[in-house]
Amino acid sequence: MDASAIDHSRDALTISRILRVNHAGEVGAINIYTAQIAMPQRDGDIHDFLVETLSHERKHARQFLALMPDRHTRPCGAMPLWGLGGTFLGAVTGLLSRNAVLICTEAVERTVHRHLDDQLAWLGDRDPALSDTIRKIQAQELGHLRFARDGQGARGWFSHGLDAVIVAATEAVIWLSTYGASAKMAHDLKA
Ligand SMILES: [Fe+2]
Ligand SMILES: [Fe+2]
Repeated sequence: MDASAIDHSRDALTISRILRVNHAGEVGAINIYTAQIAMPQRDGDIHDFLVETLSHERKHARQFLALMPDRHTRPCGAMPLWGLGGTFLGAVTGLLSRNAVLICTEAVERTVHRHLDDQLAWLGDRDPALSDTIRKIQAQELGHLRFARDGQGARGWFSHGLDAVIVAATEAVIWLSTYGASAKMAHDLKA
């Protein structure tokens, strides 16, 4: 096998991991928002936001899924972890308070946004169709992030702690689902 073939297969593997983790992330988000909608948020003004956001995440999941067959990729093996983790996170924050719901949204979407940035930078023109899909989805994720950031009340120590725990948990499942490729991608881009 020559060097270009090795590079090509490595790129294909990374593209496959990007697709799998992004699809899994959307399934996690679907579970978060579904659980939050089922919980009392103590303030009805975010209900419409949660319902609309859930419809976006469902569409995103379908878009990533549709790109899989051509790239010989199947959904992530760690999907139950994403599903259960998302439901747990959504249920807990939905039970806590309106602010906890928005902190959860901001923490998750901020983490996702950074990873999508890394992916787009790494992808370059390796897979234009995937880049295009990510770019369009990222614009919508940014809307979720802004709403959550702008709609929050003042943050105390508990809010900062909750944010940190959610970011750490999200990073951990992303790392596990990509077998560390997400961290390597960020490291390579910095270098
Ligand atoms: Fe999404
Ligand atoms: Fe989102």
